[in-house]
Amino acid sequence: MKRRLVNILAGTALGLALAFLAAWQISRIEQRGAAEGQASTRVGTASIGGPFTLVDQDGRTVTDADFRGRYMLIYFGFTSCPDVCPTELQVMAQAVDALGGKAEAVRPMLITIDPERDTPEQLAGYVTMFHPDMAGLTGTPEQVAQVARAYRVYYAKAEQGDGDYTMDHSSFIYLMGPDGAFLDVYPGGTPSERIAESIERHMAG
Ligand code: NI
Repeated sequence: MKRRLVNILAGTALGLALAFLAAWQISRIEQRGAAEGQASTRVGTASIGGPFTLVDQDGRTVTDADFRGRYMLIYFGFTSCPDVCPTELQVMAQAVDALGGKAEAVRPMLITIDPERDTPEQLAGYVTMFHPDMAGLTGTPEQVAQVARAYRVYYAKAEQGDGDYTMDHSSFIYLMGPDGAFLDVYPGGTPSERIAESIERHMAG
């Protein structure tokens, strides 16, 4: 029992350290981008993103290549999240709608970090509450771990004592280009108008 507690504490400490590292890297990248212009932002963050294989809300196996041709607006979260995820998914949906005629060029998507509970069926009912075009992706725990690593997303199960659990996770919205390349990242709390403006800038340039 004691050893289990130690393991949990060690795991939590490692998770927090990784989360801080990810946040620090992103803020450093943003600072450098602001100082040197957008071109360096793209170079500095080239390692965010990459290939993935997941399962969509219709139960189909999909890869990152299936989403080429449209911008991807990606959020990592889970459907039983009480507040942060719903807020960010709503912001993401509003940002897409704010693009008006250009909205079709952007695919909003939720990638779950809780694949145990977030089945394709569960995601199908959830994502459409936010946006009719929103994709919901899940997979095996290994597939989810792989894509989370690629995007430097931190997540960890937090036991609640009654056999139930919630998920701790970092909260960023990622903008990827039609070619799958990383373009931008918006920390949780970024207003939808700012995200929409940023997407339009990327579309223009
Ligand atoms: Ni959440």
